[in-house]
Amino acid sequence: MLAYRVMIKKCLFPVAGYGTRFLPATKAMPKEMLPVLNKPLVQYGVEEALEAGLTEIGFVTGRGKRAIEDHFDLSYELEHQIDGTGKEKLLGDIRNLMQQCTFSYTRQSTMRGLGHGIQSGQTLIGDEPFAVVLADDLCFGAQTGVLAQMVAVFKQFRCSVVAIEEVPETDTDKYGVIAGEAITERIFRVTDMVEKPPPGEAPSNLSIVGRYILTPDIFEILDATEPSRGGEVQITDALLTQARRGAVIAYRFEGKRFDCGSVPGFVEATNYCYARQEFD
Ligand code: G1P
Repeated sequence: MLAYRVMIKKCLFPVAGYGTRFLPATKAMPKEMLPVLNKPLVQYGVEEALEAGLTEIGFVTGRGKRAIEDHFDLSYELEHQIDGTGKEKLLGDIRNLMQQCTFSYTRQSTMRGLGHGIQSGQTLIGDEPFAVVLADDLCFGAQTGVLAQMVAVFKQFRCSVVAIEEVPETDTDKYGVIAGEAITERIFRVTDMVEKPPPGEAPSNLSIVGRYILTPDIFEILDATEPSRGGEVQITDALLTQARRGAVIAYRFEGKRFDCGSVPGFVEATNYCYARQEFD
């Protein structure tokens, strides 16, 4: 086993994607800024990272994504405007994130897939284990957040960890799908993984959700990973290389996940949150 540091401090958000499934809403606005109730998706993701103890937030961004940088920056005019008013409390959560986290940005200039997006983040990560959050997968943990649960699993196994959930067999072509040997009811040692297999050809119905903890050897592996499905460099292919070394754990998290990159998933998430939140 490689001797990786147990402490994870960094969380990478690949946010360069175009969000074509949500057009026209995402024509001029990043999909990660779509709000569920009054909070943008990306803020839920950063809150989940902070809850897991990850305070160094990195974004792999692209053209047209400036709103994300502005969201995590101080707006003096706005602060001045609402100072001392009843509206100040609406900024409480984002102020807390800005106080506790650092935010760094790099750009993915060509769209060559999630694997390539993560590869572009190497400059922000360096040589340490890190988490990856795909902000359009909105996750609510049962007791603790999904990333916090995964950090605990990482501490136990010290290798890459992917979040998984069961999906209907007809939906395997929307996700990376794993095969694995069960260690416990929730923890699997991954033996195979395939990106978006057609129903009937999938190794299981355990699909990968947009939460990863990756060991830094993934960057070298990504460098050597050829584009595959859709002509894109797939993180799933790079993880398969690690899995063949016995170094990937799949974790069936406790909680709920909504695919907020699709309209039905987004509406479901909105209804779920609305039913749980009180407004003045
Ligand atoms: C990506 C990954 C896929 C994973 C999914 C989770 O796909 O490539 O393996 O299951 O995220 O949301 P995308 O949704 O970007 O097509």
